[in-house]
Amino acid sequence: MQFAKLLGLSETARKKFFQAHGVDTENAEERVEERDKQWHKNLVEAAFRKRMRFFDGKSLWSGDEKMSFQFSDWDTKRQQESQLARSVATKCYRLAEKMLDDNFNVAMFGEPGVGKTSLALAMLDAVHKGHKTTMFVSTMELALLYNRSIEHRELRDTIYSIMEAMRRVDVLLLDDFGTEGGMKRDPRPVRKDMQDDLYSVANARLAVDEETEKRTKSTIVTTNNSPQQLLMMYNDKLISRLIPKEQEQIVLFDGLEDVR
Ligand SMILES: Nc1ncnc2c1ncn2[C@@H]1O[C@H](COP(=O)(O)OP(=O)(O)OP(=O)(O)O)[C@@H](O)[C@H]1O
Ligand SMILES: [Mg+2]
Repeated sequence: MQFAKLLGLSETARKKFFQAHGVDTENAEERVEERDKQWHKNLVEAAFRKRMRFFDGKSLWSGDEKMSFQFSDWDTKRQQESQLARSVATKCYRLAEKMLDDNFNVAMFGEPGVGKTSLALAMLDAVHKGHKTTMFVSTMELALLYNRSIEHRELRDTIYSIMEAMRRVDVLLLDDFGTEGGMKRDPRPVRKDMQDDLYSVANARLAVDEETEKRTKSTIVTTNNSPQQLLMMYNDKLISRLIPKEQEQIVLFDGLEDVR
């Protein structure tokens, strides 16, 4: 049948014609809308995966191996103080949930092997599932990169591109911050170029959206050092931009043991 003739048919006749040709006209508008929604969702999903691949590529893992940890992997029985292990994980879980709608910094303080990196990774996993881009930066690996760049000047470009990504990612994890300052008992100032770059990143990450007047980036820091020790390694302007003052954004692992 010609298209013009089809248009001339009554609604019922047109339906009959379509049914005879195996075309389901029931709820056609809703189905088109649903299809468009799905198409849009797929597009957004693909764009997110692409952005995540970019930030994954810029992440600096300890020993080059990507690590992953989820809240469901947290075993409270690994600790004698299992109730304490539970409450620390619950605090991290709630902070990650809040981070889906809001942006702020979180600092995790504790001795080696108590689970700081694990819970910080679980937070990254949770916000990633909520479509926020994430990036992991081992501060020790970053310091090594700066040291190697003295001899290998081309590494300056690598450092520059990592810093750019650190500025832009939604949620940044600065892992083991302070280890690059040397012995805990005798912390030394961290090299100036690294301090300057980190300051510039930390500053950029405090940016506020003009319309909503809310922050657009979150940063999580894990450290074995006290704030006082960090101040011996880094400029106080950097520390004040990185380490939150609000108790609810500080996670203390005191009382937990090294389970490594
Ligand atoms: N409650 C837990 N449940 C399951 N695994 C745990 C738990 N606590 C720690 N682990 C495991 O123990 C090891 C050490 O934990 P993690 O690396 O998170 O410690 P950390 O506090 O970051 O230590 P460091 O300060 O040395 O970096 C990891 O393999 C981690 O997965
Ligand atoms: Mg760690």
